[in-house]
Amino acid sequence: MVNRRDFLATAAGVGATLSLTPRLLSALAQGQLLQRAIPSTGEKLPVIGLGSSATFSSVARTEDVTALREVFKAMTDRGASVFDTAPSYGASEEVAGKLVNDMGITKKMFWATKVNVAGRGTGTADPAAARAQIETSLARYKQPKVDLMQVHNMGDPATQLAVAREFKKAGKVRYVGITTTSDSQYGQLEQVMRNEPLDFIGIDYAADNRGVEEKILPLAIEKKIAVLVYAPFGRTSLFRRAGTTPLPEFAKEFDATTYAQLFLKFILAHPAVTAITPATSQAKNMIDNIGGGIGRIPTAAQREQIIKFVDALPPAPGR
Ligand SMILES: NC(=O)c1ccc[n+]([C@@H]2O[C@H](COP(=O)([O-])OP(=O)(O)OC[C@H]3O[C@@H](n4cnc5c(N)ncnc54)[C@H](OP(=O)(O)O)[C@@H]3O)[C@@H](O)[C@H]2O)c1
Repeated sequence: MVNRRDFLATAAGVGATLSLTPRLLSALAQGQLLQRAIPSTGEKLPVIGLGSSATFSSVARTEDVTALREVFKAMTDRGASVFDTAPSYGASEEVAGKLVNDMGITKKMFWATKVNVAGRGTGTADPAAARAQIETSLARYKQPKVDLMQVHNMGDPATQLAVAREFKKAGKVRYVGITTTSDSQYGQLEQVMRNEPLDFIGIDYAADNRGVEEKILPLAIEKKIAVLVYAPFGRTSLFRRAGTTPLPEFAKEFDATTYAQLFLKFILAHPAVTAITPATSQAKNMIDNIGGGIGRIPTAAQREQIIKFVDALPPAPGR
């Protein structure tokens, strides 16, 4: 298991021996995508993965999903494995399940999906319907088990976490978690983190969306819960805010050669974070994102520099 100190030492060592673009290429060739441990077991995960709402989901709805095949190839060829999906992401879960089976890469995947038959907020879940939804997810993945089953958007945690745990006990789910990206649900998430055994939480966190730093991330460290980070680019708002502003010079100091890498490295500088799953429908962006998990990670002072820089960017223009 890699602890925070070992991780920093490794990251510093990698940074000291490599150089920018050739440095990243050589690191990729050597499989040096950083990994972090899931606290409940010590199993290591590559820090950059793939999400499947947003653009991924738009392409999954179309007839030609070649672009998504290329994204999976780019991802697994470079040692990334964490894939985040949900039954509610249109055709994503079904199309992705078919693609990874056709490509013969299921053994390279860490498959994270979700359950929610209660809706957002205070709805209640019928346990039989939750079980049926999980069985559908298993059938779409065509494997005897999924790696992570997350209760989506805090839907009736008491019922659905219990159902997810039944599947874990039966060997059909390896880890159990819960997700939210709504500010109004973070208080409830905190209660669940304190009161329920959890392997993972999934939350939104970005260089200009740092609310989870106050209570959620320190609590995840305290309770030894792994953290998946969603919406690391604020669903494109960070790119739109950066616009044509040149990448700041200081990005080189932690081996970020693009904005995507700078934004991802900002998140990885928080020790609570286990992995990030940016959504993409383009292999070139998948490769770019993987670069965010290679080389040096910002120091505390560099993190502050990023915050200052991002806070000074203009608001995202409307679309
Ligand atoms: N409650 C929940 O459980 C919850 C909520 C939100 C999100 N999530 C999960 O987290 C994932 C990520 O969040 P998100 O999809 O909302 O937002 P995001 O990852 O912050 O942003 C996705 C957008 O960024 C673009 N992008 C990706 N890589 C890029 C790069 N290197 N350069 C430029 N643009 C890039 C994508 O377009 P291209 O296709 O053109 O690359 C897409 O438009 C979701 O897909 C989902 O799996 C879970």
